[in-house]
Amino acid sequence: MMSVTAFVDGWDFVQTLGEGAYGEVKLAVNNETQEAVAVKIINLEKMPQAEDNVRKEVCVHKMLKHESIIKFYGFRKDENIQYIFLEYASGGELFDRIEPDVGMPEVDASRYFKQLICGVEYLHERGVTHRDLKPENLLLDDFDNLKISDFGLATVFRYQGRERLLEKCCGTVPYVAPEVISRKPYHAEPADIWSSGIILVALLAGELPWDEPTYGCEEYCNWKDCKITISPWNKIDTLALSLLRKVLVENASKRRTIEQIQKHQWYNKNFNKNRGMGRFPSSSPSDSPCGTGPFKRMCIDNSPGDADSDSALSRICSSQPELPPLPNRNPGTPGEDLGPTMSFSQPMHPEHMVLSQFPCTPGNSQTPMQKLVRRMTRFFVKTDKNETLIELDRACEVYGYTSRRGSPGMTTVSMKDKRGMPLVFKACLMEMGENLLLDFRLSKGDGLEFKRHFMKLRNQMKKISSKIPPLFPLMPSQQSQVAV
Ligand code: ADE
Repeated sequence: MMSVTAFVDGWDFVQTLGEGAYGEVKLAVNNETQEAVAVKIINLEKMPQAEDNVRKEVCVHKMLKHESIIKFYGFRKDENIQYIFLEYASGGELFDRIEPDVGMPEVDASRYFKQLICGVEYLHERGVTHRDLKPENLLLDDFDNLKISDFGLATVFRYQGRERLLEKCCGTVPYVAPEVISRKPYHAEPADIWSSGIILVALLAGELPWDEPTYGCEEYCNWKDCKITISPWNKIDTLALSLLRKVLVENASKRRTIEQIQKHQWYNKNFNKNRGMGRFPSSSPSDSPCGTGPFKRMCIDNSPGDADSDSALSRICSSQPELPPLPNRNPGTPGEDLGPTMSFSQPMHPEHMVLSQFPCTPGNSQTPMQKLVRRMTRFFVKTDKNETLIELDRACEVYGYTSRRGSPGMTTVSMKDKRGMPLVFKACLMEMGENLLLDFRLSKGDGLEFKRHFMKLRNQMKKISSKIPPLFPLMPSQQSQVAV
């Protein structure tokens, strides 16, 4: 059973969705209506310096209303705990859809990229820059629509028509533009556009092109020297590559603008023509308003008046999903009725949420999450709880990972990734009726690396992993986190 630290009247905090230096994001489900929200919980006792950052995050996020941006519902403070109520994205994180070293079909990458660009376009129109765009901060809703999240580093760069240059060195190193680490003032918009270009490489090739965009980095020099016959560039189609050539341009003033990107042939290419029944719905301009670790997240302040925040957050999936598509999870358009049993709705009146203290939620309150979050980093096992945990420890030992048992059913796995950066993830044993599911969630580090290591562990545990149980998915009441 998990410990639940807080409660919003009538809402169960059922599971951790994500975590970072600030605290955790939990899924809260209304126990009557099944409405779901994500709640970012910041404990000021542990992080007193976070208060200003949270205030700024709330202030910026409040201004934003767009289909490609996670909705902000509200903010509450209860003594030293701050809560930010957000739209719950049930599809998980975009990095989970990227197959390490492979990427994803171009049609899917194109769709996600367009939604990203539409979201970034909106942000920039509102004078806001995100400053930490990366697949870990891009969530997916019930319909696989991309939602930009985490406005913890966002700031206003244009106010009443006047633009200000930024000076903070902000973001996650492999995704940051060269000018951001140059320590000279820089324009906000091209920097977000650069990060979007790196995200496109990750989507199309399943790897990041370089550790950092500096001349000390060979991969970056190769790109500058047009050496594109090597990985990741040799995995990317020439038309997409021609777009990347214009986006990943060192000189920010020569970099393509959003308007120019939207006119590029690859951006406008119709990939749906010969498309069969793929895993992801592909939208066309008519069904989507958009046209369709271990990197240290840094924020080094060189300018006055901009709150500093430094957090070691990082996080980019198995070939294909271990789980079958969930009932009523067919591609559809937002607003379509998914059916009452298989979907949460978003709250109609988030302002009615009232804080109070409650004891632990019963185990079966875990279940809606298990039913709804589409995460590929999990598999069913044939063994019992103890044997599974022993097998997990063994598999970790084979690869030299450190495994540490925490709360019942939870193992924390840590290691250094290929860049020597810390990578930490949690393996959580969940009871799904008769079946046991081992669910892995990134805690700290790069998402793509997490997926690579998850796949190694899964392979090592092949003999105890089972095929999808015949009765899966089960009803919520049959599912619960394991207490061992
Ligand atoms: N992880 C972090 N924020 C989230 C959200 N709003 N929905 C789902 N998962 C999340």
